[in-house]
Amino acid sequence: MHQFRSLHLATLEKVFSRLFIRLKSTGRRPSAPLGSRILTNCDDIFKHNMWDHVQWTEADKDNAHLKAAENSKVHIPLAEQGKFDTEACKYWDTFYALHERKFFKDRKWLLLEFPELLPSDSKSQESGFDGEMDTRLQQHHSHTHFDCTSNHQRLCQDAELETNEAAMRVSYPGQHASFRIMEVGCGVGNSVFPMINNIKENAAFLYCCDFSPHAIQLLKSHPDYDHSVCCAFVHDICEQEGPLPFPPQSLDVILAVFVLSSIHPDRLQGVVNRLSSYLKFGGIFLFRDYGRYDMSQLRFKKGRCLSDNFYVRGDGTCVYFFTKDEVHSLFSNAGLEEVQNLEDRRIQVNRAKKVSMHRVWMQSKYRKSHPVSPC
Ligand SMILES: C[S@@+](CC[C@H](N)C(=O)[O-])C[C@H]1O[C@@H](n2cnc3c(N)ncnc32)[C@H](O)[C@@H]1O
Repeated sequence: MHQFRSLHLATLEKVFSRLFIRLKSTGRRPSAPLGSRILTNCDDIFKHNMWDHVQWTEADKDNAHLKAAENSKVHIPLAEQGKFDTEACKYWDTFYALHERKFFKDRKWLLLEFPELLPSDSKSQESGFDGEMDTRLQQHHSHTHFDCTSNHQRLCQDAELETNEAAMRVSYPGQHASFRIMEVGCGVGNSVFPMINNIKENAAFLYCCDFSPHAIQLLKSHPDYDHSVCCAFVHDICEQEGPLPFPPQSLDVILAVFVLSSIHPDRLQGVVNRLSSYLKFGGIFLFRDYGRYDMSQLRFKKGRCLSDNFYVRGDGTCVYFFTKDEVHSLFSNAGLEEVQNLEDRRIQVNRAKKVSMHRVWMQSKYRKSHPVSPC
């Protein structure tokens, strides 16, 4: 029953001690650690707002299958679907014009669930700008001696390395940082601001993009936005050619929090492939998003379904609900290796209304491994 998260004890200690120092300075009471609140007696359900590691009963599963089958019986006609994809940016921009900073809450759990966002000292030294380039050049030279590397592969490697080297010579924001993070689909910064102090403390740099100009404008006008450690810009991650302000293989972490679900499932593989090309070897892709049969999927009314498990909300924004296997295929097809891939099943409680809801979120971490010698 207790599928505890695979966090290293040492990392947990580090995160908790930082959190504790911050809570001490703000005088707030630390909340229960994530993942630790287990419902053992059903009578206690309304004692807390959230219960972790929830096992579904057969009846829960049947009910979920039934509701999803019911609300996806009728699909929106194909001729009407196109605009939700081609004009996705417009729908999200209108969303931020309306709700501004008021809709999403700050992702306070971010550093607990994703301690990889904190650079370790040794990691920063290893991945320093010059050292990294040296290592890559060494890899390049050793690669050229592999007898079983085809000429074509070798030419591709040469071309790629030359492009990277040329890009490295051009100056770009964050180029001297020892640790670089990119958040995609950052919205108004609900993940950016919970980590900005860490970025400052660790000589790291944060890039963040969203295709909504309104969202980026709101993020940049936030009093905590600091352009010496952060570069926010408007960018559509579905665009395969759109320029990014850093060279390939320069990121330590890519963070995607409730963004990939907004994208048409047919486009997702291309998006993940392209983003992954910006990770360094050893870099990690951190992902959190909606899981299959989350309460928000089951609540859709008939007539909102675009294709299996993909829906459009009343405001024109779209949402997909992932399974573990789909997440695994997405990242492993992009050449990344699983570090964590879990379904986070919880019960969320509205104590005032005495209502409980099953929540399902995906949480995954996939690493770009160092290349192994082909011989
Ligand atoms: C559910 S919101 C999540 C925002 C933020 N990550 C958070 O956790 O609060 C989804 C975000 O993804 C952005 N988004 C959706 N598709 C995108 C795309 N193709 N390129 C860039 N941003 C996109 C939307 O504008 C929106 O800000």
